[in-house]
Amino acid sequence: MNFSGPNFPVTRMRRLRGSAELRALVRETQLTPNDFCYPLFVVEGENVVQPIQALPGQHRWSVDKVVGEVEAALAEGIRSVILFGLPAGKDAEGSQAYADNAPVQRAVRELKRAFPQLVVMTDVCLCQYTDHGHCGPLRGDTVDNDAALQILAQTAVSHARAGADLVAPSDMMDGRVGAIRAALDAAGFQPTGILSYAVKFASAYYGPFREAADSKPSFGDRRSYQMDSANRREALREAALDLQEGADWLMVKPALAYLDILRDLREHFALPLACYNVSGEYSMIKAAAANGWLDEKLATLETLLSMKRAGADLILTYHAREAARWLV
Ligand code: PBG
Ligand code: ZN
Repeated sequence: MNFSGPNFPVTRMRRLRGSAELRALVRETQLTPNDFCYPLFVVEGENVVQPIQALPGQHRWSVDKVVGEVEAALAEGIRSVILFGLPAGKDAEGSQAYADNAPVQRAVRELKRAFPQLVVMTDVCLCQYTDHGHCGPLRGDTVDNDAALQILAQTAVSHARAGADLVAPSDMMDGRVGAIRAALDAAGFQPTGILSYAVKFASAYYGPFREAADSKPSFGDRRSYQMDSANRREALREAALDLQEGADWLMVKPALAYLDILRDLREHFALPLACYNVSGEYSMIKAAAANGWLDEKLATLETLLSMKRAGADLILTYHAREAARWLV
């Protein structure tokens, strides 16, 4: 057969794929441990290292134990963590969210004391703290947006007081970035940044997290505050609002099923971008790997690379430590 076309045989794409060295020279996107932010669940008590069934390899840590885990992550090249708290008690308003001695606040203080260079972020939401599991106080059977703002702002200030570098609101209430910025500034925390979960979709992929954080809504779902998966233009509006309200950094969540949204934001905004490789995305790979259906290392690195390629500057991922080890 003697085919020639407008480009073939002159152009041959395979020329630059012939060896590992050549491929490395023309590789457009690189993953490094620096790209990862490691999510951690902190609980009351001492000496607690509790495996989370739905997130194989992940644990709930008491504050004394999380320090050792972070030390190991730092040694593997990870520079940032995001903390989630499980409180001792819940109520209708989620008041343990802003208690200065709750697990997140104590963990922030201990981690910044032990590792001043560690970038510490905190998730700001109320669903782990409310007895009904919604992301703010209720009015009838829906979340009272403006009442939630007050509590979220107070929570963000308590995280800043503990020493968080960035607070990350994940509640999807309208106006929360502005309310948090104003409260931080009024309390003297001008340097504390806001990483906004600007574009957070109502997603089935949060399932394992809700087991880990005990934050499943006791009735209904989160569709009256989290975004509809179908909406791409609305994502741009959410991001633009958070930018105007003072967000320093924008996040898209989940990541894998929303890579188009991540790319959209990359093209429309100059802010740093993060994406959340959420619990269900992690557990899918872990489950398939446990069955021998996927090569875990290759599948994980390919997935994380897709997020970087789509435009993420930072990937929140439970794979952080393992992936960092695979990359050296
Ligand atoms: C709290 C919160 C959730 C996640 C991060 N912050 C759950 C939710 O909105 O129900 C999900 C993270 C994950 O699935 O890994 N609002
Ligand atoms: Zn929430």
